[in-house]
Amino acid sequence: MELNKKNSINNILEENRTFPPSKEFSNSAIIKSKKDLFDLREKARKNPNEFWDSYAKTEIDWFRPYETVLDRNKAPFFRWFPEGQLNITYNCLDRHIKNGLGDKNALIWEGEPGDSKTYSYKDLLKEVCKAANALKSLGVKKGELVCIYMPMIPEAMIAMLACARIGAPHSVVFGGFSSESLKDRVIDGNAKFIITADGGYRKDKVIELKKAVDSAIDSGAGDVVNKVIVIKRTNKEISMKLNRDFWWHELLENQDDWCEPEIMNSEDRLFILYTSGSTGKPKGVVHTIAGYNLWTHLTFKWIFDIKSDDIYWCTADVGWITGHSYIVYGPLSNGSTTLMYEGVPRPSNLGAFWQIIQKYKVSIFYTAPTAIRSFMKSGREIPDKYDLSSLRLLGTVGEPINPEAWIWYKDVIGNNQCPIVDTWWQTETGGVMISPLPGAIDTKPGSATLPLPGIEVEIVNKEGSRVEINEGGYLIIRKPWPGMMRTIHGNSQRFLESYWDFIPHKEEPFVYFAGDGARIDNDGYVWIMGRVDDVISVSGHRLGTMEIESALVSHESVAEAAVVGKKDELKGEAIVAFVSLEKNFKNSDQLVDEIKLHVVSEIGVIAKPEKIIITDSLPKTRSGKIMRRILRSLASGEKVSGDISTLEDSSVLEKLKKDS
Ligand code: WTA
Repeated sequence: MELNKKNSINNILEENRTFPPSKEFSNSAIIKSKKDLFDLREKARKNPNEFWDSYAKTEIDWFRPYETVLDRNKAPFFRWFPEGQLNITYNCLDRHIKNGLGDKNALIWEGEPGDSKTYSYKDLLKEVCKAANALKSLGVKKGELVCIYMPMIPEAMIAMLACARIGAPHSVVFGGFSSESLKDRVIDGNAKFIITADGGYRKDKVIELKKAVDSAIDSGAGDVVNKVIVIKRTNKEISMKLNRDFWWHELLENQDDWCEPEIMNSEDRLFILYTSGSTGKPKGVVHTIAGYNLWTHLTFKWIFDIKSDDIYWCTADVGWITGHSYIVYGPLSNGSTTLMYEGVPRPSNLGAFWQIIQKYKVSIFYTAPTAIRSFMKSGREIPDKYDLSSLRLLGTVGEPINPEAWIWYKDVIGNNQCPIVDTWWQTETGGVMISPLPGAIDTKPGSATLPLPGIEVEIVNKEGSRVEINEGGYLIIRKPWPGMMRTIHGNSQRFLESYWDFIPHKEEPFVYFAGDGARIDNDGYVWIMGRVDDVISVSGHRLGTMEIESALVSHESVAEAAVVGKKDELKGEAIVAFVSLEKNFKNSDQLVDEIKLHVVSEIGVIAKPEKIIITDSLPKTRSGKIMRRILRSLASGEKVSGDISTLEDSSVLEKLKKDS
């Protein structure tokens, strides 16, 4: 997407309200003032190694200390704390028990049908150890990738930690992805083991996860997968294949509840997580243990200003990076109580979220703008019925939040008492990069405010020169940070091309290109403008237009397809597909529905196009490239503006207007 200063900045440029934290909040905060924050930022800027070293030493427990903080020899394949040895589960579990927190709740879980469960740190460690021993008994070895395809149940967290306990990296695939998507990820990662459930509850339906695993295996993943472990959740009839499929509860039954944590090197892989880019198939973002542990630990502590008695709830799914970093690793590494909810709000129970806050006296709530907008739409009467007075801090993540939703969140959910942390980051960054530290600075609705200490953000143009204040440009990160992705699994070339070679820089040999556009205002606050590549964000879920286009053209009737995002009040963006048909097919509602369902079965329900426009005139340049800019304007009902002289056939525009 080209950066368009005018339409991207739009009314947000006029947003200049500021909201300071209350005195009480600041006084008891970990970072209490702008001065403290700026001192930290300055310290990090002056001597980054010393800065990171001071936290790595004190916040992380090591089995063997590191000697080097940052190894730049193979940059941009940076290595952090390379000689160090540790196990992230020791930092997330054992050390808290040693410190007397064994009986503290580690996990509170609320199931969709109303069942619930809590695990103390001691309980969680025991379950993780049993699961770890079970994995070993099936032959899972250190370094071997395990795929996790699960609903939001405690076993999802336990499975992740069990893998980490024995040094087997995990690859969690969101339970809403189709069997096709699962298959691609299993094959790309060469995962011999899958941990799944018979099914999961999502809204009012049961999602048949095991069935999806079976069809992934039957359609190609079978060449890779040896064993499948199945958790009983829905009790629905499923087929179990002898010597390949095993019940979780049977495997765990007789396992010892102690498993020695494997001694891991800092740069051993902790996980792969697939995310969409602008080209090709989703890429397997690789994170390694120590740097990720440190960054999720620190950011969680700073941003959520965590106290020992906080009940913290992040509504993401563990299938996304937010779930990895801020349901599992960040909170547990800090010895906090993390809440996990199986469901998503549904029309029959819009109060579910507020009921959970009331029931467990949640003090910190972290969700996505898209959820806030849908709550807003259904009116304040619903949350007003519940006692939300336990809340002291609110957060958002995943997409730009419009100032109206921000104000509603602060007013209606936070009763104007809670600071809001709008956190900008990505799968690739491991943890939050830009966010208010809630006791330290004033917030502005719609801005993620300032980069965290140690993070150097700059907005530049294509040539790599810094742009003016309030001018839109590409968001880059100048310096390496511990939680950064290490590579793309199996494709280091793509890692270099997508993130490091894209923008030249006058002073730094390597700058990280995030794929987002942004501007920085007079106060140094960052305003994210959205993706500048062909990635669209539907309800905060990241999807590549090319992925959806490949799914479309794999339908027998589709000759060519072009997908664009259209602004959507609730979802942020909605998917609109322009499709030309093969000769023998005719446009009909039935065909359009069939094509939509085909995309769902290829990718998952999150990728279902809202609208498919059948046309035989896709606008192309003389070199055959589809001009998406034109399609975007048409999809949004805007006038097509800008240069159209490169169009091969200018008459397509009129035809297209008729078709859309
Ligand atoms: C977008 C999600 C505006 C952004 C953690 C980024 C945001 C992409 C924000 C990463 C925010 C995330 N304000 N935009 N606070 N947070 N984004 O990898 O475009 O699923 O590049 O990670 O989400 O999406 P991902």
